[in-house]
Amino acid sequence: MIGLEQVHSAVSVVVALESMRNVSQVRGFRWQDFWKHSIACGIIARAIADQVRLKDRSVTPAAFTTGILHDVGKLFLLAHFAPQFSDVLAYMAEHSCSMLEAEQETLGTNHAFIGQYLAERWALPAEICVAIGKHHKPLSSCASDADRLANIVHVADAVAQMLNLGSGGNRVASQIRPGAIEALKIEDGLAGLQADSIRRQVQEFLSVLPLQSS
Ligand SMILES: [Fe+2]
Ligand SMILES: [Fe+2]
Repeated sequence: MIGLEQVHSAVSVVVALESMRNVSQVRGFRWQDFWKHSIACGIIARAIADQVRLKDRSVTPAAFTTGILHDVGKLFLLAHFAPQFSDVLAYMAEHSCSMLEAEQETLGTNHAFIGQYLAERWALPAEICVAIGKHHKPLSSCASDADRLANIVHVADAVAQMLNLGSGGNRVASQIRPGAIEALKIEDGLAGLQADSIRRQVQEFLSVLPLQSS
């Protein structure tokens, strides 16, 4: 039987691939690396959610979907505003700042905000939309499913970078905000995450996606 999680996952991949159809080539941004980062984030987010679920059954199975789509706003910029996205990358290189800061400075908006807007247009569940919008500003409490998802994906984003699984385009590694892990109330913190298993799952996932051609 196909579960809700699998349906969400399949839909997320399809919509993200669809939005990438007209992706431009921009120097300094490799979309294959981007995809690896996104898939790794989804797999790590799911692993973290599994641990949260042990203590809190209300955690939704949406972590995988949110993880895969958390940076989809970057793909949108790449596909539809390539020159401006190029400016973002140049600003980031010049100022050694995060992509989020570079976007805000050069575009007056950022990929998290754009990603939330896209997710809402795709009619994804509200908690996924909000969590995409908040993935760079997790809350120190998890009052809602959306806040919990945002924290999970925020942590997964940083772990994917620590494990060197692809790249979301950042030159500066994302740091886990203080309190983000504590708010999830995971008994062993991140100790339960198994890097080898995560790496294997990422490779398996990539091997069935048609992402090799540009
Ligand atoms: Fe991001
Ligand atoms: Fe990311």
